[in-house]
Amino acid sequence: MQHIIDATEIFVKQQLEGAEGGHDWWHIYRVWRQARHIASREQADMLVVELAALLHDIADSKFHNGDEEAGPAKAEKFLQTLSVPEEITGHVVNIIRHISFKGGNEQRTFYSTELGIVQDADRLDALGAVGIARAFNYGGFKNRALYDPAIAPNLSMTKEEYKNSPAPTINHFYEKLLLLKDRMNTETGKQLAAERHVFMEAYLSQFYREWNGEV
Ligand code: ADP
Ligand code: NI
Repeated sequence: MQHIIDATEIFVKQQLEGAEGGHDWWHIYRVWRQARHIASREQADMLVVELAALLHDIADSKFHNGDEEAGPAKAEKFLQTLSVPEEITGHVVNIIRHISFKGGNEQRTFYSTELGIVQDADRLDALGAVGIARAFNYGGFKNRALYDPAIAPNLSMTKEEYKNSPAPTINHFYEKLLLLKDRMNTETGKQLAAERHVFMEAYLSQFYREWNGEV
């Protein structure tokens, strides 16, 4: 089992060479560790959790012309070269396919404890100090403004509109990041998300105070 994880770690590092700073190997590293931590407190198949955490972002549709199947297909092909049992490969691929389920009106078509764990770990990395760094890095990558008091957050955009929206990065907190704490799957995930949420709220109040020259 360890040789499968080791080979996957090497493969993922290769795949993510040159990736944008919020979606690079270190994002995978953090999600992998956090997923292992959450899984140690749940009844879960650790091999599935580790493989899904490692492989969940190897071909993000945001960077692959919206192709949602590129990541799952690449992961499947890779696991087949390692002769991972078909049942495990199928489960890992399903997790990758469904991990970025956004909640709201979208219907959940697949769920497992292992998916819940990896999704929590992935969402936690969008929160707190690291989450703030990732959001501004992504905004910079897209050449977005930090903040614009004239552009209000919009919670009813479709996925496509959202991707192409020129909205400033601060809006992303209201459109997505501050909503995540109520969408966590595991108890451990809920607790950690609540702490990171409080930190982001404090960050935002300080941001506006500085913006307005109050501190
Ligand atoms: P996932 O890959 O987990 O489905 P996303 O790709 O939407 O989620 O987000 C990954 C990271 O990129 C997060 O840290 C998120 O905050 C950041 N990000 C995504 N969209 C935006 C945006 N419009 N503005 C700023 N950051 C964003
Ligand atoms: Ni991710």
